[in-house]
Amino acid sequence: MTLAHKMVEGSFRAGPPDAPRKTLFDKAATYTAAREVQAAGVYPYFAPIEESTTSEVRIGGAWKIMLGSNNYLGLTHHPDVLAACAAALKKYGSGSTGSRLLNGTIDLHEELEARLAKLMRKEAALVFTTGFQTSLGVIATLVGRGDHVYLDKLDHACIVDGARLALGDVHRYGHNDVAQLERQLAAAPADAGKLVVTDGVFSMEGTIVDLPGVAATARRHGAALLVDDAHALGVLGDDGSGTARHFEMEDQVDLVMATFSKSLASVGGVVAGPEDVLHYLRHHARALIFTASMPPSSTAGTLAALDVMAKEPERRTRLWANTRRMADGLAAVGLAPGHAETPILPVVVGALPRTLRIWRYLFDAGVFVHPVVPPAVPPNDCRIRLSMTAEHTFEQIDRVVEAFADAVQRVPA
Ligand SMILES: Cc1ncc(COP(=O)(O)O)c(C=O)c1O
Repeated sequence: MTLAHKMVEGSFRAGPPDAPRKTLFDKAATYTAAREVQAAGVYPYFAPIEESTTSEVRIGGAWKIMLGSNNYLGLTHHPDVLAACAAALKKYGSGSTGSRLLNGTIDLHEELEARLAKLMRKEAALVFTTGFQTSLGVIATLVGRGDHVYLDKLDHACIVDGARLALGDVHRYGHNDVAQLERQLAAAPADAGKLVVTDGVFSMEGTIVDLPGVAATARRHGAALLVDDAHALGVLGDDGSGTARHFEMEDQVDLVMATFSKSLASVGGVVAGPEDVLHYLRHHARALIFTASMPPSSTAGTLAALDVMAKEPERRTRLWANTRRMADGLAAVGLAPGHAETPILPVVVGALPRTLRIWRYLFDAGVFVHPVVPPAVPPNDCRIRLSMTAEHTFEQIDRVVEAFADAVQRVPA
């Protein structure tokens, strides 16, 4: 028994003394799944990276091709980005030590907001410390008692949690199921506040939202539309501004949120939209007000990444060429990545044990990927998820395809 258990035993008993003991930490004591997977040598999480380049990482002393990052444009090691981070460290120090509302706003935050508002063709933008917090802040602040919020069932966890925090009613519709969304919207009082929230690119499937369908449905029912472009910023649209640009529907999306932790190679989040809405969020979003702001070096790095994104559009071209090379290569060995329409390529390989063994085989062969397992997917529908960067070489991609084909042959179904 751990010290923590002993402490809880003494102070948090549920029910009378002769009832079976139920302590707060019982769930931890009986949680064995991860330890069993660790003991079997196929535990795929929390592997500490010792060193990295844009397309490779060193783990346990061995270099592996990275197919599990969100570094779509390959900017994490770009000299301009690194130089901007270093200069900001020197100028502003290592941390903001306060909230945006109080002492934590620096001029670079405002510069970043102006840049992103322009890129996303919105009146204004507001920068949060992470994308997750952006979602919590926006949804929980806007959706009050009596309001309704509608989520695609594959929306990211931060959207689900933002809706949980909100005081309004939450509805979930099937993935891109516009007919179900229509029915749900029609069932709510006509004069209730309504917000539809969807990922632009769905992070586990690699699919793109049916924006024409979702936007038209939302509009018909007077609902506002918020698109989470975490995986679309830098990837979709001729200027990399995301899903709305991809569909040429910028005026149909009320609010766009995104993260800097993927294409922009940093950490932080943003929401862009009408000035008065952002003014309101600025003064009411608890996830903005009661947390320290984005660190200066991350802010400067994000600005530099935006510069590189604009100056080097060939990165997006390379990203898509790499995506095609990988998707075609996998299809040629019988491993076509489902319905993926983006640089996120999920390959269905079967049940959990096989998926973890394939993951381990690839890891030992020098390929870093992510298994996607229940509850994210049905039990026999587990995937190996690959995500591409502009910095992969064709030679690396071909090596991965070969290793993957080998892995599925050697690990029986
Ligand atoms: C769709 C989506 N939204 C939001 C987030 C959160 O972003 P951040 O890493 O900035 O918290 C993620 C990150 O995984 C994501 O995939």
